[in-house]
Amino acid sequence: MRVAMIGTGYVGLVSGACFADFGHVVTCIDKDASKIDALNAGEIPIFEPGLQQLVAENVKEKRLFFTTDPKDAIREADAVFIAVGTPTRRGDGHADLSYVYAASEEIAGLIEGFTVIVTKSTVPVGTGDEVDAIMRKTKPGADFSVVSNPEFLREGAAIRDFKRPDRVVVGTEDERAEKVMRELYRPLFLNETPIIVTRRRTSELIKYAANGFLAVKITFINEIADLCESVGANVQEVSRGIGLDNRIGSKFLHAGPGYGGSCFPKDTLALSRIGHDAGSELKIIDAVIEVNAARKKKMADKVITHMNGDVAGKTIALLGLAFKPNTDDMREAPSIEIIAKLQAAGAKIRAYDPAAMTEASHLMNDVLFCDGPYHAIENADAVVIVTEWDQFRALDLDRVKSTLKAPNVIDLRNIYQSDDMLERGFSYTSIGRAY
Ligand code: UDX
Repeated sequence: MRVAMIGTGYVGLVSGACFADFGHVVTCIDKDASKIDALNAGEIPIFEPGLQQLVAENVKEKRLFFTTDPKDAIREADAVFIAVGTPTRRGDGHADLSYVYAASEEIAGLIEGFTVIVTKSTVPVGTGDEVDAIMRKTKPGADFSVVSNPEFLREGAAIRDFKRPDRVVVGTEDERAEKVMRELYRPLFLNETPIIVTRRRTSELIKYAANGFLAVKITFINEIADLCESVGANVQEVSRGIGLDNRIGSKFLHAGPGYGGSCFPKDTLALSRIGHDAGSELKIIDAVIEVNAARKKKMADKVITHMNGDVAGKTIALLGLAFKPNTDDMREAPSIEIIAKLQAAGAKIRAYDPAAMTEASHLMNDVLFCDGPYHAIENADAVVIVTEWDQFRALDLDRVKSTLKAPNVIDLRNIYQSDDMLERGFSYTSIGRAY
C-alpha cells in the first residue's frame, strides 16, 4: 500500500515509520522545511526510544520518504493520514481544528482515484463529517472515504504500542475503506490484535473516552493517596488490593504528582467541551480536570510543609522535569508548577533531567540545570523526585546523603521505601504512604 502521512509530529512520525516497517511505502509530509531537511539528514526532532533506528532502516530500504511537497505522494496514495496537531484553542478549551481542515482542503485538490482519508489526530466527535464536507465542497465528485482511526500510543513506548496495540479502532461504514484499513494493519491481525470496526462518530468518541477514563483512574488514586495520608494507610497496598480485581485492573493506579503530557490535559478539556456543547455535561471529567490542576500546585506545598513551612533562601534540587520518564516532553509537566511555586516562596532551584533540560530551559527562569543527579543535589537542603527515570531508582543513597546539605528527600513517585529511607537517616516524605 502507498501511504501519505500529513504532519511529522509525534503521531505522524511514529505511525509513518511503523507503517513503513510493516512494508508499506510511506511519504511523510510537513510544511516545515527545516524539519523535513533534518529528517532527510537522519535527525529525529523528538526523543523516542528506537525511533531513530526505525526511521533510518526504512529510509535505507526506500519505504520511507520525507518531503514538503504533497503532490505526488497524495496522488499515488491508497490512504492519506491526517496527523497534524490539534492544540487546545485559546479561550474556550476546544480542540483547534484549523490544521485538520486546511489539510483536508489540500488533500481534496490532489487525490486521484479512490483514496481513504484517515484522521489519526485526536479530533472531536463529528470532525470526520466536517472533513468529508470540506473535501466534497473542494472537489465535487472526488472518490474518497473519510475514516477515523485513533492512535493510543504512549510517549516513550510508542513503537511497541503501535506494533503491539491492545486493539485497532476503525470508524467507517464503507466496505472499500475497511478493506484498505485491514490491509494496512495486516501484520497486527496475524498476531490476533482485535479490530473494532464501528461508525465514525463512535470511533472518535472511543479515543476521548479512553483517555478520559485513564485520567479518572489516575486522579482517583491520587485522591485516595491523600486519604491514605490522613487515615494512616498505604496507597501502594490499596492499589494492589483493588487492582487485582479484574474489573478494576492494576494499571494506571500509581499515585503521583498529577498527570501531564500532550494528551490527558488537552483531551479531558476537549471531552468536557464536547459534552457541554452536546447538552450532556460530564461532571466526572470536569472534577478530574479541576482536581488534577490543583494537585500539581499542592505538590509544592508538600515540599514546603516537609521543610517546616519555610523554603525561603533554601536550595531545592529536582530530579526529573519531563512529565514522565523516557521523553523530553515538558507539556503540562508537574515540575513547571512545582518550580514556580517554590521559587515564589523564595527557594533556589537546581535541577537535572536526562532528556528534558533543553525543553525546560525555554519554560522557566533562574533554574540551575545540572550535569547529573549528584551534581543537582550538591549542597541542597532537599531533593524532590518528580519524574521516575530509571536512573533515579538506583541512586547511591550513601552518596546522596553525604552530598545533600540536609538529608531531606521528597519522593513524589514513591520509588523508594519509607522504612529503608528512615533507617538510613533521611527525613523522607512520599505520596499516600503513612508507613
Ligand atoms: C497517554 C495515553 O496513555 C495514550 O494512550 C494516549 O495515546 C496519549 O496519552 P502519554 O501522555 O504518552 O499517553 O503518557 P502516559 O504514560 O499515559 O502517562 C500520562 C500521565 O499520567 C503522566 O503524567 C504520568 O506520570 C501519569 N500517570 C500515569 C500517573 O500519574 N499514574 C499512573 O498510574 C499512570
